Amino acid sequence: MALLPRKKRCKGIPTSTVSQDHLGRNSPVGEVKFGEVGIFLVERRMGSSRRRFLTELARKKGFRVEEQMSESVTHVVSENNTGKEVLDLLEKRNGISRTGFTAALVDIAWFTESMGAGRPLEVESRHQLQIVLTPHGSIAGVFSRGKKKSVGEGRNQIYSGVVFLHVTREAVAVTEVSISSYACQRRTVLKNKNRLFTEALKVLAEAAELNESEGRYLAFSKASSILKSLPYTVTKMEDLQGIPSLGVHSRKVIKEILEDGTCSEVENILQNERYQTLKRFTSIFGVGVKTADKWYREGLRTLDELRASNVKLTREQEAGLLYHNDLSAPVTRTEADLIKQIVERAVHKFLPATVVTLTGGFRREKEFGHDVDLLITHPEEGKEEGLICQVINWMTTEGLILYGDITGNSYKGRSKDPGIFDHFEKCLSIFKLKKELVNNLESEKLSHCDSLAGDKTRGIDLADHTEAAQQVTVAAAGSKDWKAVRVDLVIAPYSQYAYALLGWTGSRLFERDLRRYAKHSKNMSLSSHSLFDNEQNIFLPAATEEGIFAHLGLEYIPPRERNA
Ligand code: UTP
Ligand code: MN
Repeated sequence: MALLPRKKRCKGIPTSTVSQDHLGRNSPVGEVKFGEVGIFLVERRMGSSRRRFLTELARKKGFRVEEQMSESVTHVVSENNTGKEVLDLLEKRNGISRTGFTAALVDIAWFTESMGAGRPLEVESRHQLQIVLTPHGSIAGVFSRGKKKSVGEGRNQIYSGVVFLHVTREAVAVTEVSISSYACQRRTVLKNKNRLFTEALKVLAEAAELNESEGRYLAFSKASSILKSLPYTVTKMEDLQGIPSLGVHSRKVIKEILEDGTCSEVENILQNERYQTLKRFTSIFGVGVKTADKWYREGLRTLDELRASNVKLTREQEAGLLYHNDLSAPVTRTEADLIKQIVERAVHKFLPATVVTLTGGFRREKEFGHDVDLLITHPEEGKEEGLICQVINWMTTEGLILYGDITGNSYKGRSKDPGIFDHFEKCLSIFKLKKELVNNLESEKLSHCDSLAGDKTRGIDLADHTEAAQQVTVAAAGSKDWKAVRVDLVIAPYSQYAYALLGWTGSRLFERDLRRYAKHSKNMSLSSHSLFDNEQNIFLPAATEEGIFAHLGLEYIPPRERNA
């Protein structure tokens, strides 16, 4: 599949006529094909440029889009708003009374799927914002002539508004698809076609995080994430038309990189002493931004200066500083597999039916990670209690653990208002991993797949990890016969296991957007423990991740496509 430049992508779209919009601007409007459907796009949280883009897209496809709210509107479409927020807004801005309101309040998903299908789809319950307005509960009857079709059925991403040309030998097929602003509605694999831009945006996000500027951190992280999900490399600014989550600042950065190859703001940050020092200090296990900043303000710059200073360190930070060299080398897939085996053997000594699962980045098929995340559960709920203490004690006496800090379960029953952190019993630890065992497992693996070339044929982009691989070599070249590795062990009661697995698989942004989607589109509260439906006032149990996606009305995204 190849992608052609965007300008050529208008083939197949009905010829547009030009008319004037309500502001008197000329805008291309296609022939109205679905007159019975009137769309009103709510600008709040969507932004005016995206709204304008979506309006034009829909009109080209023969939809009737109204600039103002009126009686002829049948679908009020909004993005990232709750039903109540939209109602309040319509009441305040447009003087629409709730009682006489007959249009459907739908999420952007309905719009994007309809654009993909090329016709208005039936409103399904997953499309509706949570406040039902009509006395009949829905206006599904409007589309009774149309056949119900879910765009999400295929393997396509859930796109809208961006035209991709798929060129085959036989013909040029035009598919018009759209990118959701929710990471949990995008499929993001590890292969990233826009690394030049995403690396720059990552630096800006990191810098914002180190300045404790949450809003900017999120804006740059979202921009970076959306570019990671694109199936093409951005080569000119027009390639970004209609793409959500790209703010003015991020666009400016991309533009500069397109023109000059680099972004001066990013270059300056990389040279900045405070940025470099805070990055160095926060790379120590147990050191957060506040502590790093404090040390910086006290005049400390390097790890050696820190070691030589009389700064009081926590037990965690002491271990972090002591093993810093090893801990900053990437953890390999083989090391992660080995640690999982070691933990499995240890827990089975005490409880044979215990299940250990590798989560985090490795479950998303990353080849390298900064730690190993293991989720532990037992099919008989309650049996898992107290297990971690026994296991950690035993492993410590066996010399397998260098540091361990167990936090008890602080889960106070199901909470409707989940905080950011989970309350599972867990152990943040540092393992002492014998290099010999790693080498043995590595040879075992190699004998299974012939040579490293196997990796290339599996499509893994080894070039992407050059830096990581170099560091691994350096770590392996050390004189000691072991390597310190960060391991998180998390204990989940069986009934919460699916939620814990989903929560610990990441990525961070994917998780954040799952929760945001649950809240804004479904009026539900999602955590690593449970899902609560605020409309029905009930918890929704799930035995699998698929079950959770189904509760949320989302298409299932497998771990390897959650690298948002
Ligand atoms: P990690 O920080 O380990 O990230 O958390 P990662 O994706 O595995 O990446 P690397 O390769 O180690 O750097 C894994 C997931 O666990 C969740 C986060 O959502 C994250 O995506 N998590 C982590 C929690 O839920 N709670 C925590 O305290 C830590
Ligand atoms: Mn991890």
